[in-house]
Amino acid sequence: MKIDIISVVPGLLESPFAHSIMKRAKDKGILEVNVYNLRDYTTYPRAQVDDYQFGGGAGMVMMIEPLVNAIESLQKNTSYDEVIFLTPDGETFNQKTANTLSLKNNLLLICGHYKGIDQRVRDHFITKEISIGDYVLSGGEIAAAVIVDSVGRLIPGVLNNETSALTDSFQDNLLSPPVYTRPEEFRGWKVPEILLSGNHVKIEQWREEQSLLRTKERRPDMLDEID
Ligand code: ADE
Repeated sequence: MKIDIISVVPGLLESPFAHSIMKRAKDKGILEVNVYNLRDYTTYPRAQVDDYQFGGGAGMVMMIEPLVNAIESLQKNTSYDEVIFLTPDGETFNQKTANTLSLKNNLLLICGHYKGIDQRVRDHFITKEISIGDYVLSGGEIAAAVIVDSVGRLIPGVLNNETSALTDSFQDNLLSPPVYTRPEEFRGWKVPEILLSGNHVKIEQWREEQSLLRTKERRPDMLDEID
């Protein structure tokens, strides 16, 4: 999968994909992530990419021309399955969307800044608008990193143990059960007996119960979605 990202602050995206699972995915050639600086696509003096909004009001707006130059230039080499704008008024991102996006070949992510981007870019180029939650970030870069990470780890071959993504919280509309590792006892706090029993049927049963309990307590809204 290839994910291209357009940003005015490309430096913000240098580190998130340079470590751990994302690095491994890139090293294995399963995931390619390219970050493009919007300022390389403007024809305005002093690399200007934003301007005052028509109608007045506080806050700058990202101009249409640099964005369209960047999008069309990248589209010459790549046919994108989705052109995604990261914005707090987009549809809320969740595991289902991550699953869907992980099946695509090429994605283009556009990071907004300031008051947002000229609406005409949204009307004519954007195929999907995503928010990562009901709060406002200072730009779309952190949101883009969240999406690349959550989508990237779902691509087959990225995780060592393929089943580990399948047992993640949210994959079946349930939160994950508690997990433990050595030592069996620490300051008198013991690991649940059942996990040491070697009885895999019983262990699986316990984990399912714990998942359900945790979901009931913390996210009862998720249970309404199970059909
Ligand atoms: N840009 C600013 N806030 C955002 C959010 N919550 N999700 C996606 N992009 C954003």
